[in-house]
Amino acid sequence: MTLLEARNLKKRFGGVQAVAGVDLEVRAGEVVGLIGPNGAGKTTTFNLIAGALLPDEGSVRFLGRDVTRWPAHRRAHLGIARTFQIPQPLAELSVLENVLVPLARAALRRVLPLGPYRRPERIARARELLVRVGLEAHAEQPAGRLPLGMKKRLEVARALALEPRLLLLDEPLAGLTLREAEGILELIAGLREGIGVVLVEHNVRLALGVCDRAVVMDAGRVIAAGPPEAVKRDPRVIRAYLGEEADA
Ligand SMILES: Nc1ncnc2c1ncn2[C@@H]1O[C@H](COP(=O)(O)OP(=O)(O)OP(=O)(O)O)[C@@H](O)[C@H]1O
Ligand SMILES: [Mg+2]
Repeated sequence: MTLLEARNLKKRFGGVQAVAGVDLEVRAGEVVGLIGPNGAGKTTTFNLIAGALLPDEGSVRFLGRDVTRWPAHRRAHLGIARTFQIPQPLAELSVLENVLVPLARAALRRVLPLGPYRRPERIARARELLVRVGLEAHAEQPAGRLPLGMKKRLEVARALALEPRLLLLDEPLAGLTLREAEGILELIAGLREGIGVVLVEHNVRLALGVCDRAVVMDAGRVIAAGPPEAVKRDPRVIRAYLGEEADA
């Protein structure tokens, strides 16, 4: 079942064509890797899909509906959740409370009673989500003091609290040790049941282990798409990354 169909998305910032005609499809039950060097347009593409930005051209269909002009919160209600490249937990609140906030939001949208008698259930659900992302032992800690790897896990738990059909993960592996990254990859692999996941990642090799399909962007365009193994060997992909090394 196709969840997301983005067609010919374009977004320009002043003189920079950040996204220059991107197509992206995501089906339920798959992890799609959205790969590309710095500045390729990955985060901008996420912003166009999640509704943080409106495209100059193109369309976004989600669950068969045209959501191109919808504000972000309506798309979130329909089932698009995202994590941010730089984790943004509510630093003063505990890890558990950080998950309770989006759970309360999800309850609101379903017009469930928000009264105190619902709270124990929400706490139980928040704890379940923390178990799912491996943070149960840190539930009472202030979120701001978690190490980066755990903040990234918390981001995933907060996004899952919205019970998304499509989960957009913006560089959940960046800045992590290999060991932390492997832990998150395992977590991501377990998410795909029933929902679609788009994983933005810079490092081709790391991401492709978990992806069912890869879409590679460079300079605002999709330069390769297909099975991870084929994409990894694609000369255009190799060239995009070599160019980046030469720039560095
Ligand atoms: N709000 C903005 N205003 C101006 N330029 C922007 C804005 N957002 C992105 N850009 C530019 O658009 C291009 C694409 O940026 P984007 O953040 O989408 O890339 P990315 O693939 O996510 O890169 P990275 O791997 O570094 O996160 C870059 O040249 C960036 O500088
Ligand atoms: Mg980015």
